[in-house]
Amino acid sequence: MSASVTVRVPAKVNVQLAVGAARPDGFHDLANVFLAVGLYDEVTVTAADELRVTCDGPDADQVPLDRTNLAARAAEALAERYGRTPDVHIHIAKDIPVAGGMAGGSADGAGALLACDALWGTGASRDELLDICAELGSDVPFSLVGGAALGTGRGEKLTTLEVGGTFHWVFAMADRGLSTPAVFREFDRLGEGTDIPEPLASQALLDALAKGDPDALAAAVSNDLQPAALSLFPELADTLAAGRAAGALTALVSGSGPTTAFLARDPESAAKVAEALRASGTCRTVRTASGPAPGATVIG
Ligand code: C5P
Repeated sequence: MSASVTVRVPAKVNVQLAVGAARPDGFHDLANVFLAVGLYDEVTVTAADELRVTCDGPDADQVPLDRTNLAARAAEALAERYGRTPDVHIHIAKDIPVAGGMAGGSADGAGALLACDALWGTGASRDELLDICAELGSDVPFSLVGGAALGTGRGEKLTTLEVGGTFHWVFAMADRGLSTPAVFREFDRLGEGTDIPEPLASQALLDALAKGDPDALAAAVSNDLQPAALSLFPELADTLAAGRAAGALTALVSGSGPTTAFLARDPESAAKVAEALRASGTCRTVRTASGPAPGATVIG
């Protein structure tokens, strides 16, 4: 058994996020089409006297280091199942924006789970790991699986999707975060008194992914949380407009936001959109990344 294990985990963008009415448990049924993209956190676990979490990276000061961190909860959940103590030091090298709608916290949960499984020699099956992921949060199973997938239920029931090419994205990070529960609450408030249809995946979107066709994907993307995110963070409209004006095929809020995502036809066009967004002064930082990217992977 090695003394430490490092797992690399991707961020995600939701190319479709169809949201149904609030359920009695407060969650919402979704048709959530995830695409993993090549922005990664690296989670390293090392045997220690007791559970502790550290983090470095540009947004590290915004990451909770207590037991609310999904990485800590993942270690505890796996240890509990296997009747052992979660005595590990978890270090997160964070590159995914925090509270950005790109599943950064979920990535750390999936990463810590896979890393602890390898460190402890637990040998949990894929299904067991996916069960634990689903207990940790709605987006955590996808962080483990990566690639592209349709998430139903509250987003945790995954069906893998075929993707016929590489999609080139630009991401603009905002200067503050948005809380996912607050965005869902705003979705409920905006929808009060209206009939909210059952969330269904768009066939045109699934076809565009399967073909690897960026124009068709651009025409089909949608995010039902976008009006709620814009209502709580109206300045995001300026960022979306700046990316569109620079030639992005489409611009949308990523998940619950506030990161905005721009689809480009090719890497050159992505670089141009990124440059224009940097110059626009409407966001904090800009990154390019392509997808699909692989899910959580042991790299050392
Ligand atoms: O599952 P997770 O803990 O990531 O969800 C965070 C919050 O987002 C939930 O507490 C809930 O407010 C909201 N949510 C929701 N419906 C979903 C997923 C998340 O309302 N399908």
